[in-house]
Amino acid sequence: MQELSALVESARLDFAAAQNPAALEDAKARYMGKTGQVTMMMKQLGKLAPEERRQRGQEINQTKGQIEALLNARRDELAQAAMQAKLSQEAIDVTLPGRMSRAGGIHPVMRTWMRIEEIFRSIGFEVADGPEIESDWFSFTALNNPPNHPARSMQDTFYVDREDEEGRPMPLRPHTSPMQVRYARTHEAPIKVIAPGRTYRVDSDATHSPMFHQVEGLWIGDDVSFTDLKGVYSNFLRRFFETDDLVVRFRPSYFPFTEPSVEVDMMFTSGPRKGKWLEISGAGEVHPNVVRNYGLDPEQHIGFAFGSGLERLTMLRYGIDDLRLFFEGDLRFLRQFR
Ligand code: DAH
Repeated sequence: MQELSALVESARLDFAAAQNPAALEDAKARYMGKTGQVTMMMKQLGKLAPEERRQRGQEINQTKGQIEALLNARRDELAQAAMQAKLSQEAIDVTLPGRMSRAGGIHPVMRTWMRIEEIFRSIGFEVADGPEIESDWFSFTALNNPPNHPARSMQDTFYVDREDEEGRPMPLRPHTSPMQVRYARTHEAPIKVIAPGRTYRVDSDATHSPMFHQVEGLWIGDDVSFTDLKGVYSNFLRRFFETDDLVVRFRPSYFPFTEPSVEVDMMFTSGPRKGKWLEISGAGEVHPNVVRNYGLDPEQHIGFAFGSGLERLTMLRYGIDDLRLFFEGDLRFLRQFR
């Protein structure tokens, strides 16, 4: 009996000394394994007389039960400790301030861009996109604005350090008008398209930025007249500003790519912005030379084009007086459009 309780005690110490499950299993084997002490004692039983054997067998079984209980208790302890260690490693500091989800917003100029696409799509216009580093030919010559023509100085243009196929320095496109030619040359007439995008000029003040946005519009068919331009553009403005309280004026002007050419002015007839003419677009009937550069016969194909500034339209829509606000990234300004 003495020897058995010593065995239980020794198991307790061994199990307590095991610092991880593998060590504990090793310790277990020393008692319950094939050659473990408890197992060996069981094997000895056969040598005893029947009476003695029963008595001894019961004692050993009891001892075995005690050792098993110790083993299980230690297993639980080790599992608990492992869990605690893991938890404290992954500890979360609940006192840290939370991460707010701050929803961004769409930039006001982009809102204008999206609204324009939506309005023109609804009356059957396609939307096209093109390169911002453009060839000299698409930027000017194809638009009836040949090299050395004085009209080239209407736009003060940025050039990049790269030449086009004709060996001319390539401009950052100063307007979206090259898209008229690019689109018309790759699509069948009738042509009905807008091309919104970024444009660049050497210009910087409260109403001009070196990078700005325009939308080009082009409708070419066999009978698209100045009347159509007036109707389409006036209706566009009413839908864009969501009011009928505005008047539109087509004032004679000059562009090399249109004949006749106009500047489009509008005036609100009610509300805080009432009573002042504002210039918003260039437009006109496409010049026959330009129609030829589309690859079309100007005797058969005629239509209008326009080019409008998106910043300008955005400023009018929201009553913003300094265009630089659009590009400074000041959140106090931008948040107002969320
Ligand atoms: N491209 C001109 C500019 O940037 C605007 C313009 C005028 C576009 C008349 C046109 C047009 O399509 O017909 O100033």
